[in-house]
Amino acid sequence: MWRDLEISVCKCDSGQLKEKPDQDNLGFGNFFTDHMFLMKWTREKGWHDAEIGPYKNFSLDPAAMALHYGQAIFEGLKAYSGENGQVFMFRPEDNFERMNASALRMCMPRIPVDQVLKAMKALVYLDKDWIPTAPGATLYVRPTMIAVEPVLGVRPAEEYYFYMILSPVGAYYSEGFNPTKIWVTDKYVRAVKGGVGTAKTAGNYAASIMAAEEANKAGYTQVLWLDACERKYIEEVGTSNIFVKIGDDLITPPLNGSILAGITRDSVIQLAKSWDIKVVERMISIDEVLAASEDGSLTEIFGTGTAAVISPVGELCYQDKKYTVADGNTGELSQRLFDELQGIQYGKQEDPFKWTIRIG
Ligand code: COI
Repeated sequence: MWRDLEISVCKCDSGQLKEKPDQDNLGFGNFFTDHMFLMKWTREKGWHDAEIGPYKNFSLDPAAMALHYGQAIFEGLKAYSGENGQVFMFRPEDNFERMNASALRMCMPRIPVDQVLKAMKALVYLDKDWIPTAPGATLYVRPTMIAVEPVLGVRPAEEYYFYMILSPVGAYYSEGFNPTKIWVTDKYVRAVKGGVGTAKTAGNYAASIMAAEEANKAGYTQVLWLDACERKYIEEVGTSNIFVKIGDDLITPPLNGSILAGITRDSVIQLAKSWDIKVVERMISIDEVLAASEDGSLTEIFGTGTAAVISPVGELCYQDKKYTVADGNTGELSQRLFDELQGIQYGKQEDPFKWTIRIG
């Protein structure tokens, strides 16, 4: 069973190695490295056939259940190129633990965290020449699990693939670390309590696309999501968690059933508390945010996520009215959090929380 899971390694021949992309024009998720990890699960055998091998297509039956009923979960984490060729990763175990929480919600099998961590380190190390060294660029790791059993009945599948692919990436938003313009939607919702908003599952992202398209067409970078019941309380921004600084309080919505438990969110909470900033996890309405904008007590809004890191918000648009945040600039706290997190992630700064692991 998975406790004895053997991971075989089959390296690309030199002729199979791909040309590496220009580091200054990576965008996000457009290129993939030479190798990938794949393992399979069946009810009888558990996890088996674990292999690091050349990056390649796999064939799926057209009836594979992930394609019909969305049993598909994923994670996102990064490898950072430090000084003298060192390679760091940030809280990787937390990503795999969160994947298991998503798996539980989606009736999918647990992954063996220790073995998967070992496989990920070996995979990243094997493709370490792909880790970009340009400032802000990283190697994004995408662990994914999909249901592959070919059955049209709606029930948990009995066969799954778990795989990890690697993508050299630049900034998630074209703005980079510059402030984004955010469109507050009261027309669409991302997730509802009791639904799957807390799971990192494909359908949540599918549900967000139409709103993001409309926001883009209106000239906005992303959407700010309100709660699905009252369309009143702020929940997330784009694919990130959200923080609002009002007066001395740094406020973020609580993990109350429809919000993803972001690892960057948790890191920001811990960092801010260690700086004696008052962090408050509570429901906060869009009306309260906008009232604070009008009376001048709102000083910053930012999103947090693995892909986006810290993403300052420079403008909100709600019901056709525009509100400038932090004079359209990057706020002081956003900048401090970004610098500190990046310093820790790239191994340039002390890591009092022991978040970073070194893999090369
Ligand atoms: C991440 O922040 O890593 C995410 O998973 C967001 C993503 C959909 C790019």
